[in-house]
Amino acid sequence: MSTSLLPNPVVYRGSDDKEFFKEVSAGLLQPQKTLPCKFLYDDCGSELFNQICDLDEYYPTRTETAILHDNIREIAQVIGPGCRLVEFGSGTSTKTRMLLQHLTDLASYTPIDISSGQLFDSCEKLGTDFPALEILPLAADYTDSLQLPESEMPAQKVVAFFPGSTIGNFEPHEARSFLHRIACLCGRGGGLLIGVDLIKDRRRLEAAYNDRKGVTAAFNLNVLTRANRELGSDFDLSSFRHQAIYDAALGRIEMRLVSLRPQVVRLANREFFFDEAEYITTEYSYKYSLSKFTNLAQSAGFEVLNVWVDRNRLFSVQYLGVRSDVHEVYGGLGEKGN
Ligand code: AVI
Repeated sequence: MSTSLLPNPVVYRGSDDKEFFKEVSAGLLQPQKTLPCKFLYDDCGSELFNQICDLDEYYPTRTETAILHDNIREIAQVIGPGCRLVEFGSGTSTKTRMLLQHLTDLASYTPIDISSGQLFDSCEKLGTDFPALEILPLAADYTDSLQLPESEMPAQKVVAFFPGSTIGNFEPHEARSFLHRIACLCGRGGGLLIGVDLIKDRRRLEAAYNDRKGVTAAFNLNVLTRANRELGSDFDLSSFRHQAIYDAALGRIEMRLVSLRPQVVRLANREFFFDEAEYITTEYSYKYSLSKFTNLAQSAGFEVLNVWVDRNRLFSVQYLGVRSDVHEVYGGLGEKGN
């Protein structure tokens, strides 16, 4: 294997100020005010999210890590040798290290993340710890169409890694399109190792998104700080509060910023009116039963080959194989949507 850590990640397409402005204005103009959850992850938001992962109440990270740890040999065996590993939303690549240590004859590793600062830092560390690994980072919004960087090493298959149950942050129809695009990217013989959070009791779920230290609240409110800094809006942070509630009928946590009083927020030359208790939806986090996720995966062009769960059935790690009828677009992710 060659040592070819790129000095900088390939910036395929960052989320620029223009796009941020367009999406914030469009979101605030909707009858139910909304901000896309991807904007929660600027450098500060990404750091707060890392802190969330260590919270007592936030079970997904440690449970998924334990599942990976306890089953890593079997997982590596199922994936097989000689793959090109592509991680969506790689963050600090912490869980990936287990895979990098156990996968045999790994061709290359492409971490994709919207936060270029974090991507760069984690690639530097990985480059030191895995000097023989070809690391081909991509700073991009992975929900956009992307082209994977050229790899020097030919791969036997492409395997995607999408941990953390980030799939839960997509609406089910978006999740289906996104998974289908991953199936097309991976192509024949490829697969997807994915973390999927499971449906469980409301108390546990709501505690995970309303932690006692207030880190999730700070993470949520940070999107308003970001809008003020990057777009010149005048959100008064003390006039909004964080809320996260579980909707059992829809199987999702809904994260909100609730207006504490009637108020007007200015953004460019627009004014947005808020009634008291009116809220902005900032994130959905869908939870799945195993059977519901199997249906979703099948409709997206995968078959579920292996499922690993923890003792308390809080979380699952699943290996999905690309079905042979999936159209292959090796080397690139096509357009958004179906
Ligand atoms: C990234 N994603 C899977 C997290 C989740 O649990 O939905 C984001 C998060 N939001 C609040 N806490 C964590």
